[in-house]
Amino acid sequence: MSLIHAAKIALGSLVSEPHPPAPSRSALAPLPPAQQVLPSGFLLGAATASHQVEGGNDNDWSEWEKGSYPDGKPHIKHQDVSGVACDSWNRFAGDVALLRELGANAYRLSLEWSRLEPEEGTWNEAVADRYLEWMRMLRAQGIQPMVTLNHFTLPRWVAAQGGWANEKTVEWITAYTRRVARKLGAEVDLWCTLNEPNVLMAFGYMKGEWPPGLSDGKLGLHVLARQIRAHARMARELREHDTVDADGDGHATRVGIAHHVRIFQPATRSPMDRVMAGFTDRLFNQLLVDVNRTGRIQISVPGMADLDEAVPDLKGSYDYLGLNYYSRDMVRADFKSPTLSRQYVAEGRPVNDLGWDIYPEGLYQALKRYGRAGLPIYITENGMADGKGDRRPGFLREHFEAVVHAAHEGVDVRGYFHWSLLDNFEWAEGFEPRFGLFQVDYSSPDRTRTPTPAVATFQELARGLGLDPQARTDDAA
Ligand code: BGC
Repeated sequence: MSLIHAAKIALGSLVSEPHPPAPSRSALAPLPPAQQVLPSGFLLGAATASHQVEGGNDNDWSEWEKGSYPDGKPHIKHQDVSGVACDSWNRFAGDVALLRELGANAYRLSLEWSRLEPEEGTWNEAVADRYLEWMRMLRAQGIQPMVTLNHFTLPRWVAAQGGWANEKTVEWITAYTRRVARKLGAEVDLWCTLNEPNVLMAFGYMKGEWPPGLSDGKLGLHVLARQIRAHARMARELREHDTVDADGDGHATRVGIAHHVRIFQPATRSPMDRVMAGFTDRLFNQLLVDVNRTGRIQISVPGMADLDEAVPDLKGSYDYLGLNYYSRDMVRADFKSPTLSRQYVAEGRPVNDLGWDIYPEGLYQALKRYGRAGLPIYITENGMADGKGDRRPGFLREHFEAVVHAAHEGVDVRGYFHWSLLDNFEWAEGFEPRFGLFQVDYSSPDRTRTPTPAVATFQELARGLGLDPQARTDDAA
């Protein structure tokens, strides 16, 4: 790292806006009831992703799941393969019944590009019809769909030609988006172009734990930039080709991205830890927020990338900011690591089954901070791995309270989607982590769904917003 660069980063970190401090809970005056605080039409829902729940997919992940590293360690814990997953492809009506049981008025789900376009230029109209039917089914039940165009997985033919390392992927995903917008636009108003471009960069191209399994920081940053360019093109396609206002609220499309944000806290007061926490924060958190304001991709990482590129259609391409919030990391400078720092959870913290810090204050901090971007915010994901299911009720309650608290202080937050509706295929961790409000029995042929204790908590929150949880009938299950 050159001295000038280090100085710039140091200066930036010291003057960069930190997350506003979280007030201690005991110091909080009791909040008014959520319904008085949250805007009318607030979306309370759950989220899933196609590859994690549908089952029967054939994409870059299906190939990756079969493989192992050179040391023989399988790519996926316990050598799990996504396989039938939750079989939601065949059980969608049952999943809608679960949403009704929760009292949800929204569902964030993703479309599987590899099903819609299994070969280059080949469009599967029967699959498109099925997705259309799902959207109608949701609407008929008073559930607003939020549709993610791409949640990590790529068709095999895209992956075979380099995936996100190939600029042509921008063209391909743009063309795919156009077809989807035309097909589903009459039923869908709320779109999410890409899920977590920063996480895909980190796991697929830096840590090498997801396909394509690369550890190449430089490429990773270029892949991040490419996804941002793709987002801008996709947003434009959606606005051009979805002109039907499905719910009559005056907006035919509301486009955003689901952006994974974390709280990065310096491990010590040492200037280097502070600098690296600030640097990590800007690259991982802030960059994807700024692109909407500036219309430029600006990435500067010494020795890896020095990009400053104006991107057509990027400025103002977010109608809302989607935040996926899970946890907090302590950051220690470590110039041997590809990310120049080491991240870990402080000792003694409450953690979920994957060892992630449970830090609801962070959601409040994130909302306060990103609320300043002047965009409506949806919490597009928030949840915890909890095999026993006994800690999720408290998690849900406290995180929802953080949302209400931020809204009470003026943040324009319009929805909260819990991750996840169901236990599902948790990428490299396989089926072991349990994120579902409903537990899935993977040993049963019908993938039986059983409510966890957090279902009652969710229902209580729903009732508090004037929503109406419905008992599940046998034929819906
Ligand atoms: C991803 C989900 C994942 C969840 C829990 C998010 O980063 O969007 O696909 O299952 O985190 O790890």
